[in-house]
Amino acid sequence: MHITVLTGAGISAESGIPTFRGAGGLWEGFKVEDVASPEGWLRDQKMVLQFYNARRKAVKNANPNKAHLDLAALEQHHHVQIITQNIDDLHERAGSKNIVHLHGEIFKSRSVKNESIIYDCEGDINFGDIATDGGQLRPHIVWFGEQVPNLEKAITLTERSDILVIIGTSMLVYPAASLLHYAPYDIPVYIINPEIPEMNKKSNYHFIKKNASEGVAEFIRDVLKL
Ligand code: OAD
Repeated sequence: MHITVLTGAGISAESGIPTFRGAGGLWEGFKVEDVASPEGWLRDQKMVLQFYNARRKAVKNANPNKAHLDLAALEQHHHVQIITQNIDDLHERAGSKNIVHLHGEIFKSRSVKNESIIYDCEGDINFGDIATDGGQLRPHIVWFGEQVPNLEKAITLTERSDILVIIGTSMLVYPAASLLHYAPYDIPVYIINPEIPEMNKKSNYHFIKKNASEGVAEFIRDVLKL
């Protein structure tokens, strides 16, 4: 069975990484549009770099939680495809093999001039650090208003699902949220979130109103009967 899992910030909340919309629209005290838009970048590159350098350190210090680990273990029984909006690497560190990052990865940097010049990036990116083409390095993260390069891939994978599981996302950010509509129309869709997102409620949607760790365990036990 092909299980597609769309994850958002909520799955990493129990690892100590705050969600985006949890704190009055601020992301670690910053306005999202200042640190996650091309305009914000043009206004203050040093500040944006510092912001992501801090995020990179925080992710490094975090560990996958039970929800990430249970999804990785599920690969012993089913084909599991993770599509994540998260820029952290907690699905990778939990051991999941099939992961698509829709919004980029905090442990990668790229040239401002050419988005296909990408590097692994464990440490800080500093103002003045340049790529081979002379372009300033920036985080390899999709900001508001930018193309989502992995969208087509994610759509194709979602179209192949037998079950769709949506964990810890407010479903407010497009095009990521639109993936729901690419799943075959009648397959079961499970939504795991302590706060059920605003959405049309179709008869094939099932809501598990729990934190990710409890919700994933319940899904595996009660739905998949594993
Ligand atoms: P949000 O911050 O919008 O939503 C987080 C969701 O997680 C909310 O629906 C919460 O109810 C839920 N949540 C909180 N704690 C949880 C827990 N322990 N277990 C399960 N769910 C929990 O985050 P996203 O939907 O991921 O984009 O945001 C989408 C995109 O907006 C992000 O990828 C980011 C942001 O701007 C970019 O960086 C481009």
